[in-house]
Amino acid sequence: MVSTQDNSHGVIESLQSEVGSFPAPPAFAEAAQFGPEIYDEAKADPVAFWAKQAKSLHWHKPFTQTLDWSNPPFAKWFEDGEINLAYNCLDRHVLAGNGDRIAIYWEGEPGDKRAISYTELLSEVKRAANLLTSLGIHEGDRVAVYLPMIPEAVISMLAIARIGAVHSVVFGGFSAESLRARIDDAQAKLVITADGGWRKGKVSPLKPAVDDALAIASDAELSVKNVLVVRRGENDIAWEEGRDLWWDEEIALVDNEHTAKGFPAENPLFILYTSGTTGKPKGILHTSGGYLTQASFTHKAVFDLRPESDVYWCTADIGWITGHSYVVYGPLANGATQVIYEGTPETPNWSRWWEIVERYGVTTFYTAPTAIRSFMKQGRAVAQQNDLSSIRLLGTVGEAINPEAWLWYREVIGGGSAPIVDTWWQTETGAIMVSPLPGITATKPGSAQVPIPGISVDVVDDNAKHVGNGNGGLLVVTQPWPSMLRGIWGDPQRFIDTYWATFGDKYFAGDGARLDEDGDIWLMGRVDDVMNVSGHRLSTTEIESSLVSHPSVAESAVVGAHDETTGQAVVAFVILKRNQTVINDGDQASAILKAHVGSQIGAIARPRQIIIVSELPKTRSGKIIRRLLKDVAEGREVGDTSTLADTLVMQTISDKIK
Ligand code: WTA
Repeated sequence: MVSTQDNSHGVIESLQSEVGSFPAPPAFAEAAQFGPEIYDEAKADPVAFWAKQAKSLHWHKPFTQTLDWSNPPFAKWFEDGEINLAYNCLDRHVLAGNGDRIAIYWEGEPGDKRAISYTELLSEVKRAANLLTSLGIHEGDRVAVYLPMIPEAVISMLAIARIGAVHSVVFGGFSAESLRARIDDAQAKLVITADGGWRKGKVSPLKPAVDDALAIASDAELSVKNVLVVRRGENDIAWEEGRDLWWDEEIALVDNEHTAKGFPAENPLFILYTSGTTGKPKGILHTSGGYLTQASFTHKAVFDLRPESDVYWCTADIGWITGHSYVVYGPLANGATQVIYEGTPETPNWSRWWEIVERYGVTTFYTAPTAIRSFMKQGRAVAQQNDLSSIRLLGTVGEAINPEAWLWYREVIGGGSAPIVDTWWQTETGAIMVSPLPGITATKPGSAQVPIPGISVDVVDDNAKHVGNGNGGLLVVTQPWPSMLRGIWGDPQRFIDTYWATFGDKYFAGDGARLDEDGDIWLMGRVDDVMNVSGHRLSTTEIESSLVSHPSVAESAVVGAHDETTGQAVVAFVILKRNQTVINDGDQASAILKAHVGSQIGAIARPRQIIIVSELPKTRSGKIIRRLLKDVAEGREVGDTSTLADTLVMQTISDKIK
């Protein structure tokens, strides 16, 4: 079980070290599309508030019922309405006369560029929709998308949505094994991939991982009929006749006429896998109408979006929820102009992002604290080589931002005046839940502050009691919300157990939080076995299972240790098998096991440090006490060891790393 105790160590006091608060700039407040009364309106009748937001979308068939919460925790929003998400993201804007507006300024890592208008994007999505249909993809079928950040990634997602099929986007950094597990779980019929994509100055192959995934797949072999391959890296790849198809060749054969039809609002839109507290990733299921309602509303309100004049850039990859909601659905539903960049921020050097901001006149910039800290390390001069004066609003997501990074972000990137919206949400919540609104809220460095209008959250103790201002506890969502997950793919019981069993009628997010004296929310990190590395969720158990699957490893325990740049880093304690002869010394073990985890899960899961030990700290009942290992990994004095079966174990481990 979770405990509020574990989480209330005095970090918050130092976080709150009187850096003050920053009132909404008058320019924002005066021009604001939403004034403070929006909170009152939403509070008076949250369900009516969401119905009103939903009505700003196009419904093929209008809904008459907003929320059905008769069978909690399974919510239904706008259930009798019919909607097409691609129509809302594209056709609607073209029909309104905005077809010439640029939807995407795309830049490849080698420097190639494309400016794609809404009319062009619509035409490409129509073609892709026809292509999918010609490949036998129908309403409800699952399609896996394993692509770099190229326009075809967005086109694929929207084409899948357009025909009522379900996408499962798998981050390009995941290994063949992780891809296989996801294809298998969703029983995908088609995989859309590329030969390779550009990363850090070279082509990083993708198609070989798909080949491997399908070669080792059990069920996937049966479910996947075709692999559609976008030409991007021009790297050599293997080809399976009959199964593999080139995107460009196939798309040339279909026409660009396609009429979008409406699908029921509760039809599945996508599955996105995320790490949980057990080894097996969870397929988070989102549906259509409610998801788009909240993704588009929050994108408009939190980013104060002006579609006619803003150039918006969210640096997330489409492989994560942030890429789904704030690169694809939110911005496109709102008719925004946005930047998409394929590569890494340091290629060819650390000026790359800021050159892009200057080149396209980016006004609104949304990224992760870990990226900001990486830039801080380079020094402000690097960012200041470019003209960043177009920026008027900044956002962060993925983890709590330390006040020092917040202040640097505002001053160096935001010209000392841009408001920062620190947005708390999750794969499961689908869209932003807690965040300041830039024209209304006086912002506080390090705090995500307040639920957005229409959302009810609380911070409670283990007994579900509101903790009151000045106290810490667990973050919960107390009312259903439109973009909430509808379940875990194929496992309704796990959905109930994971999120609802703790408090019954409240959604338990897995995060610790504290309310300050003003009632503002400060996120304190996960209270479960989920780590947050560079804003990405990793499960300790999943990495432990991966380590133990190596023939030389007997046992392992993984902890997330504080890291200056990445927030947390993976530190693994490993016991080698007594008679194994493969691994000789510590350095070798470390290299071999890091590579093993990298190939099993993906490079993001590679431990920063592997510590070979002869024993692990356990209770008398055999449960590993990770808290003590975390003390060691973070270089602290080891805490209370009285519950250990063998109290000398920690001494041995501490000696080992000195
Ligand atoms: C963490 C990412 C503090 C949190 C959108 C959450 C944050 C997990 C913030 C979800 C924030 C996200 N402040 N912590 N502003 N945003 N988190 O599913 O622990 O990849 O539970 O969704 O990231 O990660 P996920």
